[in-house]
Amino acid sequence: MSIISDCDTDTLKDAASSLLNGNLVAFPTETVYGLGADATNKDAVARLYSVKGRPVGHPLIVHISSLERLDKWASDIPEYAIKLAMNFWPGPMTLILPRTGLAKDFVTGGQDNIGIRVPSHKVAQALIKEFEDQGGFGVAAPSANRFGKVSPTTANAVVTELGKFLNSNDHIIDGGPCEIGIESTIIDCTRDVPKILRPGGITFKMIDKLLLMKIKTTDVITNNIKTSGLMNAHYAPNAKVYQTGTPKIGDGFIALSSVSTPDGAIRLASPKNNYEFAQVFYSALRLADYKFLKNVYVVPPIGEDIAVAINDRIFKATNANY
Ligand code: TXA
Ligand code: MG
Repeated sequence: MSIISDCDTDTLKDAASSLLNGNLVAFPTETVYGLGADATNKDAVARLYSVKGRPVGHPLIVHISSLERLDKWASDIPEYAIKLAMNFWPGPMTLILPRTGLAKDFVTGGQDNIGIRVPSHKVAQALIKEFEDQGGFGVAAPSANRFGKVSPTTANAVVTELGKFLNSNDHIIDGGPCEIGIESTIIDCTRDVPKILRPGGITFKMIDKLLLMKIKTTDVITNNIKTSGLMNAHYAPNAKVYQTGTPKIGDGFIALSSVSTPDGAIRLASPKNNYEFAQVFYSALRLADYKFLKNVYVVPPIGEDIAVAINDRIFKATNANY
């Protein structure tokens, strides 16, 4: 595996052709780092599952460069989905739509729909555009972590997670730390009314305001779609995560900077606001593992903005306490 840190046009051209040749390329997006594979190449996608340790049957998000290319992958697109795409793409939003014949079972997990996203990160954009210019259709990219673990927000974190599972033809593109820090908002657009399956950078409020219609949210307990990020336990470090109780001496602590550190606790992050909280949350959890901490206490942020998504991830990380 090689690490690409100068993201000029030529290196991204090479990375795109490597993808087309069936290799894996991890790349930065504005949310988290993704592990990319040619979404039409069955063998490449099979290797992606094995590198991640992800059970087959969990669908992948396909990344494309623009809304203009959506109809290659999706059909019967409702008007509200077009509106969402026009307003929030490129950006941290994934739409679940009825699939076309291009979206095979090995990408959709056998479901009749497909998750599509147009990322805004300039490296992701350039890589996908180049991949399409060379004849590719879409880049399947789950978060570049082992199944159930914390998503990586730096290239270093990708190396830690997946380095030993990648082979010599694979690449990791280093584009610096991710701006948003948690995964995209996933919206099921296969019914009359949109339904948010995973909260993220595009918030309920933003969607409500745009569509002027009552949107649904998923009930994670009864959800029967095979969606790993929707399982109740996910996004977990090795340390146990708590959102109530008081840390003991040597336990990790994550909270807004306005909250002081309890005596003896090890401060892992002090974000100044909810957006910074999202940016640093996963790296703070990683720091806990790096320091071999057993427990991490998180004081959840409050608000209707990205705090909703952060709370979702905190809840799932605490549920992984086994
Ligand atoms: O921000 C993101 O979305 C990142 C970056 C790399 O784009 N990707 C990401 O992918 O978080 P992943 O695979 O780690 O999480 C995507 C979630 C998974 O829980 C997957 O099961 C679900 O989306 N998903 C994908 N396609 C789906 C579909 N057709 N129907 C329902 N859920 C789907
Ligand atoms: Mg993931």
